Amino acid sequence: MDPITTLTLRAPDDWHVHLRDGPMLKAVVWHTIKQFRRALVMPNLTPPVLTADDVHAYRAEIQDATFPTFEPLMTIKITDRTTPEIVRAAREAGAVAGKLYPEGVTTNSEDGVRSFWDLRPVFCAMRDCGMILSLHAETPGVFVMDREANFLHQYVSPLAVSLPGLRIVVEHATSAAAVRLVDEHPNVGCTITPHHLYLTLDDVVGGALNPHAFCKPIAKTHRDRDELVKAAISGHPRIFLGTDSAPHVIVKKECASGCAGVFCAPVALETVAEVFDRHSVLHRMEHFVAEAGAKFYGLPLNTGQITLRRETWRVPEDLQGVRPFMAGKELAWKSRSL
Ligand code: DOR
Ligand code: ZN
Repeated sequence: MDPITTLTLRAPDDWHVHLRDGPMLKAVVWHTIKQFRRALVMPNLTPPVLTADDVHAYRAEIQDATFPTFEPLMTIKITDRTTPEIVRAAREAGAVAGKLYPEGVTTNSEDGVRSFWDLRPVFCAMRDCGMILSLHAETPGVFVMDREANFLHQYVSPLAVSLPGLRIVVEHATSAAAVRLVDEHPNVGCTITPHHLYLTLDDVVGGALNPHAFCKPIAKTHRDRDELVKAAISGHPRIFLGTDSAPHVIVKKECASGCAGVFCAPVALETVAEVFDRHSVLHRMEHFVAEAGAKFYGLPLNTGQITLRRETWRVPEDLQGVRPFMAGKELAWKSRSL
């Protein structure tokens, strides 16, 4: 049988992206809006997006740098100082999720949460106003390869059971344990990034150190990566694409104390298509990139379509001073702009 040469999908959503602000926002946002109708925008700016006022201001900045056809879905950062009143006001301002970073686990999380369980009133308020709890699921101080599984066990499972009305997303799942946990709890979903469908720890430190494959949570074992691929292509109702595209200028990656983050937006759909193609399940890609997330968030499905063609192209080494995922490599699919 001839291979499929074009793939037309419902316009997709990115359920986790770092668009940044200022000049970096202007430099990178095109790569997101050319292929995603909506994107859940992370709040870890300096200063962070904490309140309804911050939501209004950051949304305005994004809208100023994009077209009205693109809808930024706003988040606030949940810290130890977040209150139920702050949650309700942010929800009124249109924030759809609250993003919780435990203290110090990744970029700009120095103000992250130290007392998870003290936030129960905040979690209840989120449940009551229909705001999603979006989790960077890693326990600080635990061995880096075990941080995600530890957080799931210590915090996510008990929370999901005790507040069944709260919808929780385990962001950028990197382990078999995360996939298992989603399966066990009907109120828990997870995002999976394009790069975690490819990378293992070997790609980061197995040969020469590769800072461009360094992100948080760190890519894990071959078994974990394979379970993520299986989950992404499975058609699971609560597993969806969140790119976690996280641009840092090359000098901040190739240095001592390099920043965590993979800039995958420029190749997001193409790299995902390659994975689905390899497993002969291209017909299930639409569910992963354009349906499951919207349904979990309770938002309407997008109208409009995007087309990908089977066409070999080489990924640039450098885009506005940022090195994209798969830089210099050939990809087999190319997406048209929305
Ligand atoms: O690798 C990462 N980079 N993980 C995160 O959680 C944050 C992100 C960033 O903002 O650079
Ligand atoms: Zn992120």
